[in-house]
Amino acid sequence: MCGIVGYMGNQDATPVIMSGLNLLEYRGYDSAGICTMASGAVEIRRSSGKLVNLERLLKQQPLHGNIGIGHTRWATHGKPSIANAHPHKGGSVIVVHNGIIENYLLLKDELTRRGHQFLSETDTEVISHLIDEKFTADTSFEEAVRQALKEIHGVYALCALSEKDDKTLIVAKSGSPMVIGIRGNEYFVASDMPAIICYTREIVIMEDGEMAVIRNGTVKFSAIGGGELEKISRIIDWSPLKAENKGFPNHMLKEIHEQPQALRNVVAGRVREEEGDVVLEGLNLDDTSLKSFERLCLVACGTSWHAALVGKYLIEEYCRVPVDVEIASEFRYRDPLVSRKTLVIPISQSGETADTLAALREARDKDAHIVSICNVADSSIARESHGVIYTHAGLEIGVASTKTFTTQLVALYLLTIRLGRANGRIDLRKGQEMIAALSGLPALVEKTLGLDSQIEEVACEYLTSWDAIYLGRGISYPIALEGALKLKEISYIHADGYPAGEMKHGPIALIDVDMPVFILAPRDRHLVKVQSNMEEVVARGGRVVVFCSEGDFKTGKGAEYALQIPWAGEALSPVLFAVALQLLAYNFAILKGKDVDKPRNLAKSVTVE
Ligand code: G6P
Repeated sequence: MCGIVGYMGNQDATPVIMSGLNLLEYRGYDSAGICTMASGAVEIRRSSGKLVNLERLLKQQPLHGNIGIGHTRWATHGKPSIANAHPHKGGSVIVVHNGIIENYLLLKDELTRRGHQFLSETDTEVISHLIDEKFTADTSFEEAVRQALKEIHGVYALCALSEKDDKTLIVAKSGSPMVIGIRGNEYFVASDMPAIICYTREIVIMEDGEMAVIRNGTVKFSAIGGGELEKISRIIDWSPLKAENKGFPNHMLKEIHEQPQALRNVVAGRVREEEGDVVLEGLNLDDTSLKSFERLCLVACGTSWHAALVGKYLIEEYCRVPVDVEIASEFRYRDPLVSRKTLVIPISQSGETADTLAALREARDKDAHIVSICNVADSSIARESHGVIYTHAGLEIGVASTKTFTTQLVALYLLTIRLGRANGRIDLRKGQEMIAALSGLPALVEKTLGLDSQIEEVACEYLTSWDAIYLGRGISYPIALEGALKLKEISYIHADGYPAGEMKHGPIALIDVDMPVFILAPRDRHLVKVQSNMEEVVARGGRVVVFCSEGDFKTGKGAEYALQIPWAGEALSPVLFAVALQLLAYNFAILKGKDVDKPRNLAKSVTVE
C-alpha cells in the first residue's frame, strides 16, 4: 500500500524522507516520488519501480529544502508509471495520498469543466486541484484544505504543501493510517511509526476526521469539519527491529527461519504449566465474561483468514463454542448478525488492513466485544479493540506472511486453552497436555526447516507446471489453502486449495500428468480418508507429492515424493505443515527467479478496500 513520509524542521528534508520511505518498503509499491520546498520554490522528483531508481535520480538531480513530502505508490487508480507517481501538483498545491477517493471522476469532470488540466490518471491529482481552487486571496491554505476535504468521499491519509504558503505542511486522515513524530520544533509525518522512530519516540497518532497544521515549529490539531483538538503525544517504548537479512539471501527466507524463535516469543511468559492454563495479558476478560459469549466470530483477510479457519477447528473442538469465520470484506457490508453476546476476533498481522478494521468497527457498533490478534503494536486494529493478543513475531518484511502466520496459529491455540479452561471444557490434565505439546514446537519447526533440500528437489521436478492442487482435510484444509496462496503469491503459479473430500466434486477433472497434487496427510483422524483421496488421484494418472507425518512410510505409497513432517499432535500439526509449504513455495519462486520479498501487485499492508 502507499507509504507517506513528510518532514518540516531545520534539517534537509530529503534524507529524512528517503530513509523513511525505505523503512516503509514492506508496504509494497510500484513507484515513488518526493517533493521539497525552499523559499516557496517547489521541486518534484518521481520514478517508477523500486526506490533505488528514485535514489539514483536524486543523485543526478538533488533536492534541498527544510520542508518536504514523499510517497511510495501502490497503484489503485491508474497504472504504475512516472506520470501517476505522487506527489501530484494542481496549481500551487502539491499532495501525496494513501487511500481511494470514490467520487474522483465526478470531481475531475467538474474541475475539467472549470479549466483544470490533469496530467495523471490518479484520484489523488483531483485533491490537489480542488484545494488549489479553494485557496484564494480570501481563504487560507488550511481553510482551503478543509473545504476541499468536505467535498471528497472516500478514504485518505494525505499531506499537502502549497507554493503560496511555504511555511505550512498540512496533514489529514480519514480511514488510512497516519502518525506525527515530534522532536523540539521538528515534525516527522508517516504512514507508520517505524519510518520515523529513529528520529523521535514522541508520537501523536492521528484519528479519522482529524487534521494537523504544522507551521513555524508548531502543530495545531483540529477536526476536519472544524474545531480545535487537544491531542496528547505518547512515548513509544518498543523498538522496531531493523530489517536486516543476517546472511540470508532475502527477507522471506530469513523470516521462515525465524519461526522457532517467533514461536518461543508468542508463548513466552504466557503459560502456567502446573495450572494447565495460559495468561493472555491483553485479553482483558475474566472467566465469567469469557465464558458468557454465545459464539465467536473470527474475521480477517488473506493469510490471516486461513489462521482464522484453523482457529475455528481448535476452538470448536476443544471449547465446544460455535465459531464463525468471516472474510472481512464480505462481513463489513452484510449487516452481520452479531450482538453483545458475540466475541469478535479480528486477526491481522499489520493491524491496519482496511477491510478488517471496517469489520471491527461494524461489529463494535453492534455492541460485540472485540479482542484482536495482531502483530503490530499500537496499530489501528489493536487500538480500537477492547482487548488484544499480540503475536510477538517481530518485524516481517517479506510481503507473503510466514512467521506472522504460524504465530497467529499459536496465539489461537493459546486462546483455545484459555477459553476451554474458563468454560470448563478443557480440564487440568488436558490443559497441561496442550501446554506440554507447545514446548517442543520450536525444535520440531527447526527439524522441518531441515527438509529444505528435499523440498527444493520437489520444486525442481514440477517447475514447469502452471497449476497445482493442494488437498487437506480437517485442520489441514486451511493449510492447503495457505499453501496454495503462498505458491500463487510468490511464484505466480496458479494453485487451488481444496478439502480432500471435495476433490471428486470438481478438481478431479483437472488431474493429469502436468499438474502436481500436494496432499497433506498428517497422522490424524482423517488419515485413512486422505489416503483414499490420494489413491483416487494416482488411479487417474495424477502426480502426487504427499506431506505425511514422520515415520508414516506407508502413507507415501503411490506418491512420487513423500516428505516426512515431524509430528506435534493434531492441534499443532498445522504449524509444521505450513512451514513445509512455505519452503515449497519459496523454492518454486527462487528457481523461477522471482523476487520473493516483493511479489508483483501485492502489498504487505492493505490500507484501502
Ligand atoms: C495482504 C498481505 C497478506 C496478508 C493480508 C492480510 O494481502 O499481502 O500477506 O495476509 O494482506 O493482512 P493482515 O495484516 O490483516 O494480516
